[in-house]
Amino acid sequence: MTRVKAERSSLRHIRADAVALVVFQDAPLFRHTQGELDEILGSAAAALHRGIFSGKFKESLVLYPASLKARFLILVGGGPAAEFTVERLRRLSAVATKTASSLQARSLAILEPGQNSGGAPSIDPETAGMAISEGVLLGAYRYENYITVREKELVRLEQLTIVTPGAGRLRPLQAGIRAGTVIGRATILARDLGNAPGNELFPESLARRVRSLGRKQGFRVTVLDERRIRALGMGGLTAVGGGSHRGPRLIVMQYRHRASTERIVLVGKGVTFDSGGISIKPSAGMAEMKMDMAGAAAVIGTLSAVAQLGLPVHLVGIIPATENMPGGSALRPGDILTHMNGKTSEIDNTDAEGRLILADALAYASRFSPTVVIDLATLTGACVVALGHHATGMFTTDEGLLNDLREAGERSFERVWPFPMFEEYEPLIKSSVADVKNTGGRWAGAITAALFLKRFVGDYRWAHLDIAGTAMMEEAGDYLPAGASGVGVRLLVEFLRRRLA
Ligand code: BES
Ligand code: MN
Ligand code: ZN
Repeated sequence: MTRVKAERSSLRHIRADAVALVVFQDAPLFRHTQGELDEILGSAAAALHRGIFSGKFKESLVLYPASLKARFLILVGGGPAAEFTVERLRRLSAVATKTASSLQARSLAILEPGQNSGGAPSIDPETAGMAISEGVLLGAYRYENYITVREKELVRLEQLTIVTPGAGRLRPLQAGIRAGTVIGRATILARDLGNAPGNELFPESLARRVRSLGRKQGFRVTVLDERRIRALGMGGLTAVGGGSHRGPRLIVMQYRHRASTERIVLVGKGVTFDSGGISIKPSAGMAEMKMDMAGAAAVIGTLSAVAQLGLPVHLVGIIPATENMPGGSALRPGDILTHMNGKTSEIDNTDAEGRLILADALAYASRFSPTVVIDLATLTGACVVALGHHATGMFTTDEGLLNDLREAGERSFERVWPFPMFEEYEPLIKSSVADVKNTGGRWAGAITAALFLKRFVGDYRWAHLDIAGTAMMEEAGDYLPAGASGVGVRLLVEFLRRRLA
C-alpha cells in the first residue's frame, strides 16, 4: 500500500526516485514554481522552446537533470491554464504515477500546483491534496489477486510525497491527503469486491468479509440468514435467493458517532452473480454480472471511509445479498411475492431481480427511522443505454437531495444525472393480479424500475442511484481501470462530508 505524505520543499531538494510537475500549455515557463526552475531545468526549458514538449493536456516528458536529487523529472502537460480543473489534477496525478511506474520508481514526489500557478484557477490545498492522493492511488490500481505468474515483476509505488512551495498550505494539504487516502483506499476496496469472481464472492463470504472489516474499522455488523429473512417477511430476497444453493443474507452495518446529528441509511444491491434466473441472460457478457453487487460494494466502501474519517453521523448500511440463479427452487415468471411491507409483486421476468430484493431492504430501512435513504444499484440495462458509462442515473422527488447529490457528483467527478418519475409512467408496471409488476415493457426501463422501488419507500426522504453504467467500465480511463470502478464511494463520502460539515 502506497504511503502518502506532504512536505514543504523545493524541486532541487526533493528526495524521491522521480518528481513530477504540471506544466501548462500557454503559461509562461515554470513561473509558478520558484525562479530556481528555469536554471535547474535548462533542458526542460530547451525542450519547450524547441516544441518537443508543448504542455498539451496529458502529454509527458521524462528528463534526467543532474542538478536534482531525484533521478527523473516528469513533466506532465496541464493543457491551457485557464481550463485547469480538480479533475484534471486527479487525471494528471494518475498519468504521472503510470510514467513513474514505467521508470521502475519506488517513490514519487508530485508538486502541487500552488496558488495562481501559471494563471490557472487556484485550487485550495486541501482539495489539491485530496485530488492528487486519489489520482495516484486509483491510477495505480490493478486487480491482480488471482494472477500467480507474472512476466516481469512490476515495481509498486511505495511512497508518494506531495510537495508544496507555500508554508501556509502544508496543514490543509495534509488534511486533504488524509481524506484522499482514506477515500481512495475505500474505493479500491469497492473495486476489489466488484471484481471478485462469483465463485468466491457469494452472500455468505461477502458477509464474512464485511464482518472482518467492521472489526478492523469500527462499525457494527449484523448478518441475518435465510431463516430470519423469511421470518421478517422479505418475500423478494427469499424468492430470488431460492434459485441458488448458497442462501441469501441481509447484511446490516452501523457506524454511530457519539455526536451524530443525523441518521442516514444507505442501501446497496448485493447480487453476487446475476444469471437472470429462469429468464436466463444470453451468455455473451454474462460474466460481467459478477459485478451486480457494485451497489453493495459502494455502501461497504462508504461505511469503511466514514468510520475511518469519524464523520458525525449515525450511518446504516443495508445490503440484501443473493445470487440470482436458475436452480430447482428458483423464482418463476408468474409467481406472486409478498414483500416486507405487505405489498405484493407479480413476477414477469426473473431477471428484474434487483428491485425485488431492494423492495424488502427499503421497507426494512424504516426500522431505523432515517431522515434520508439513498440506494445504489446496478439496476437496469436501460440506464446504460441512456447514459452510458459517464453518469449515474438519479431518481428522487426531493429537490434538496437532488441538488446535494448533484453538487457532490460534480466535486467528486462521480456525476449523477436526474431522470423523471412522472406518474404517467405508472401504468407500465400495473399488474392485474398483484399490486405491482416487476417489469414495465420496452420503454423507460430505468424509470419503471425506480417507480417499482418507490412503492416500498417508507416515511423518509429517498434517492435512488442506478449505477449500472458507471460501476462497470468497458474501457479504462486515467484513474479508472476497465472492470469495477468502485463508483459511489467518492460520491457518497463527498455528499456526507458536505452535509455534516
Ligand atoms: N443487473 C441487471 C442490470 C444490468 C444490466 C446491470 C447491464 C449492468 C449492465 C438487472 O438485474 C437486469 O437484469 N435488469 C433487466 C431488467 C429487465 C428484465 C426488466 C435489464 O435491464 O435488462
Ligand atoms: Mn437481472
Ligand atoms: Zn441484476
